[in-house]
Amino acid sequence: MSLTPTREDKFTFGLWTVGWQARDPFGDATRAALDPVRSVNELASRGAYGVTFHDDDLIPFGSNDSDRDAHISRFKKALAETGMRVPMATTNLFSHPIFKDGALTSNDRDIRRYSIKKVMRNIDLAADLGAEIYVCWGGREGAESDGAKDAYVALERYREGFNILSQFVIDRGYNIKFAIEPKPNEPRGDIFLPTIGHAIAFINSLDHPEMVGVNPEVGHEQMAGLNFVHGIAQALFHKKLFHIDLNGQHGPKFDQDLVFGHGDLKSAFFLVDLLERYNYQGPKHFDYKPARTEDDKGVWESASANMRTYLALKERALAFRNDPRVKAAMVESHIDQLAVPTLSQGESWKDIEKDSIDVESASSRGYGYEKIDQLALEHLMGVQG
Ligand code: GCO
Ligand code: MN
Ligand code: MN
Repeated sequence: MSLTPTREDKFTFGLWTVGWQARDPFGDATRAALDPVRSVNELASRGAYGVTFHDDDLIPFGSNDSDRDAHISRFKKALAETGMRVPMATTNLFSHPIFKDGALTSNDRDIRRYSIKKVMRNIDLAADLGAEIYVCWGGREGAESDGAKDAYVALERYREGFNILSQFVIDRGYNIKFAIEPKPNEPRGDIFLPTIGHAIAFINSLDHPEMVGVNPEVGHEQMAGLNFVHGIAQALFHKKLFHIDLNGQHGPKFDQDLVFGHGDLKSAFFLVDLLERYNYQGPKHFDYKPARTEDDKGVWESASANMRTYLALKERALAFRNDPRVKAAMVESHIDQLAVPTLSQGESWKDIEKDSIDVESASSRGYGYEKIDQLALEHLMGVQG
C-alpha cells in the first residue's frame, strides 16, 4: 500500500489550519499570512482532495461587496485549475469582539440575529461552491460563570437558531446538512454542547433532526477525558457522523490541535480501524495547527504528515485485522460473540427467566484481551512475527 495520498482518499484541510499564523495567548504570529490561493495550490500538489473555510478565512471581516467578489472569484479560479473541491464550509462566529458573549446564544438579541444573517450569507456561498456539509462550532457559545447565562434558556435559543437555519436551507433548496462540532471549553470557560453525546441528544430536539449531525474533533473529546473511538462509534450508530476533524491531543489540557497521530497514536490507530471497517465515506478533514516553531516549509511538511499518518494507520489496521494470530485470538476471546443477539428468534424475557448459568465457571474464564492489545501494538510499531 502506498503512503502517497490521492484524491480518492478524500483528505481535506481548513484554510485556517495551514494558514494559522501561530498567534497564541502568549505570543505574536511567527508566520506570514497565507494567500488562500497558494494554500489550494500547495495542498492540491500534495494529494489533498479539497479545502474548507470560514467566511472570514476567504473574505476578511468587513470587506465591501466588490472586494468580496474579487476574493471569491480568484478562489474559484484556483479550485477550477487544480480540481480541488469544497465539501464543507463554516462561519467564524468567534473572532470578532461582537461575539464575545456568543453568537446564537448571546444574551443580546440583535447579536443573535446578526449571527444568523452572517451564517446565511456564507451558506449561500457554500452552496454555490458545492459544499454539502455546513459545520457549526460554537466556540463562544458558553459562559465563564453560571450566573452569567441561563444554560436552559441558552439551549432554547440554540435550538431556535438551528431551526431558523434549517428552514433557510430548505426554502433555498440547497443540498446542505449541518454538522455540530462539540468542544468542552476554550475559548469559553464552558461551551454548550460539550461532547458528542450532548450534541446528539440536542439534535433530537430540533425541527429537522435529519438535517443535523456531528463533526467530532479528536482533541476535543480527549480534552474532556473521553474515548474518541467510542464517541465515533456512537455517532456512526446514530447515523450522525456527517464529518470528522482529525488531529492530535495529549490528554486533558488546552486544545493542542496537533498533527493527526502526533498525540494519542494508539487511539488514532483504532480510530482509523473503525472508520475503515464501518466504511466512513465523508471527507477526512484535518483540523490541526502547524506548530508555532515551524516556518513555511514546516507548514507543508506537517500537512503531508497528517495524510501519511492516516494512510500508514490504515495499512497497519488492515494488517492487524488480517493477521491469522489476531483472528484466532479474537475467536478465543469470544469477541465475535458480541454480534449474536441476546435473545434468539422468538424468545422474550420469559426465556431469560428460565436460564441457569454456572456462575463459577462463567466468572473464572479469562478473556485474553492483553494478547490482542499487544498484537495491535506490535502491528502499530511494525514489529514482524
Ligand atoms: C478548534 C475548532 C475549530 C473549528 C473550526 C470550525 O480547534 O477549537 O476545531 O478549529 O473546528 O474553527 O469552526
Ligand atoms: Mn481543536
Ligand atoms: Mn475542529
